[in-house]
Amino acid sequence: MPLLEVENLCLADSSTGKLLVKGVSFSVEKGDVLGIVGESGSGKSITALSILKLYPPGIKCTSGKVYFKGMSIYDMPESEVLKLRGKQISMILQDPLSALNPVLTIGEQVEEVLEVHSSLSKKQRKKRVLELLKEVGISDPELRARSYPHELSGGLRQRAMIAMALAGEPELLIADEPTTALDPTLQIQVLELLKNISQKKGLSLIFISHDLGVISYIAKHIVVLYKGEVLETGKVEAVLKEPLHPYTKLLIDSSIGLNKQPKSCQENLIFEEPSEGCVFYPRCVKRCEKGRKEKPPLIKVDETRSVRCFLYE
Ligand SMILES: Nc1ncnc2c1ncn2[C@@H]1O[C@H](COP(=O)(O)OP(=O)(O)O)[C@@H](O)[C@H]1O
Ligand SMILES: [Mg+2]
Repeated sequence: MPLLEVENLCLADSSTGKLLVKGVSFSVEKGDVLGIVGESGSGKSITALSILKLYPPGIKCTSGKVYFKGMSIYDMPESEVLKLRGKQISMILQDPLSALNPVLTIGEQVEEVLEVHSSLSKKQRKKRVLELLKEVGISDPELRARSYPHELSGGLRQRAMIAMALAGEPELLIADEPTTALDPTLQIQVLELLKNISQKKGLSLIFISHDLGVISYIAKHIVVLYKGEVLETGKVEAVLKEPLHPYTKLLIDSSIGLNKQPKSCQENLIFEEPSEGCVFYPRCVKRCEKGRKEKPPLIKVDETRSVRCFLYE
């Protein structure tokens, strides 16, 4: 049984009813690092938030299921979902400053998580806070624990967020663009940290980025998302070596190495959108007549790979 399974998730704009995420499915095995890649607006963040039913205002879930260890999160009472959040499943986001409380010290915020999710005594919690800060590579943890978020650099704040996310000893960590706001050297350090922690603790990770370079550095499996649809899935080496979907090819050609925006994707953006048919049709170099009118299904290529393209029918 996978640790997490998202099944046919559909999310819509609640005022217009427009579907933003259209039947997304993926699963995460224990200890796996799943990378979700897709350019801005493809639905990565709303998908991530919906796993724990944290629908942003204006977004509603119209169908789909999420299972954690076989338990259906969407059928649980809210009190059970609350227990999962921050404990078995925790999240880190792109912008730590907006997620951290400006009036509490870093130590107090990490301790808060321990207070909710552990049975440690106050003294044990204080000790654990310092261990956690050390674990995420914060030097001089005693001093940092007494600092307020604004007193730390972006890199340290992100590490503090990771410490908070780890405090409940989660089994799954969802990291939504956790390194995007950092400069490239810090980006690699934080990636390295997450990779090590995941390996050491057998922690499963969903790592979300618009940057295929970043994803391929950390992920074992990857899901390529485009306009709310999964276009390709597979093991990271296989996808990089032999991308099947024309969109994945485009992403690879335009994003080698860390921190490169997929430029050519932006350049050949065509705004006319077919009302039916393949979502990638307007931009596809290999588009076929069938794809103009009909939506390709997600075609299973082998045990771990699938692609949504008529070329592989
Ligand atoms: N709160 C919201 N209300 C309405 N539409 C939203 C909201 N948040 C995101 N969207 C729309 O949903 C789509 C996916 O957004 P998002 O998940 O943030 O993309 P990504 O994280 O891949 O950049 C976009 O078209 C975005 O405009
Ligand atoms: Mg996002």
